[in-house]
Amino acid sequence: MTEPQPEPASTHEIAPSEVPAHWGRAYTAPEITVYYDRGRCIHYAACVRGLPEVFDTAKKPWIQPAQAQADAVAEVVRRCPTGALHYVYAAHGGPPELPEPATVEVRENGPLFLRGDLTLHAPDTASPGGPVHDTRAALCRCGQSGNKPFCDGSHRQAGFVAPGGAKINTA
Ligand code: SF4
Ligand code: FES
Repeated sequence: MTEPQPEPASTHEIAPSEVPAHWGRAYTAPEITVYYDRGRCIHYAACVRGLPEVFDTAKKPWIQPAQAQADAVAEVVRRCPTGALHYVYAAHGGPPELPEPATVEVRENGPLFLRGDLTLHAPDTASPGGPVHDTRAALCRCGQSGNKPFCDGSHRQAGFVAPGGAKINTA
């Protein structure tokens, strides 16, 4: 088993060289780099609705952070409920992604959305570097995900039906 590597607890003051491998592919602009982990994207589309000029699946690459102000890109990245998107400013000093008061949201027919200063102990297949530290995550509730404990959108194909709507603030 790979020895767990320490990770920052949030994106606060993360330098590009400290970015965890699980953040995925980098899309770089002069002021900000956006990271995308396809395995954790459930096509919730908060990014596409928020900044269509930056997040456009009809373009290649589909993320073009230079098409908007860095602060606007960062704000929309923080809307991504699954942790598929992250960002780092090229120069320190931009607003960091601070953990929010911890919340758990039960999505109807879908996953649990977690927000907060999270430490997730996932199987090696999902997290070969050890526990995942993050501020956002969607956890599978249907049992069908191929990327457990994260939701990968399989609940839709599986026809998962379960009540939702509850939002629990753990602060
Ligand atoms: S899960 Fe995140 S990256 Fe994927 S479509 Fe939704 S907001 Fe965008
Ligand atoms: S809840 Fe989304 S894959 Fe299980």
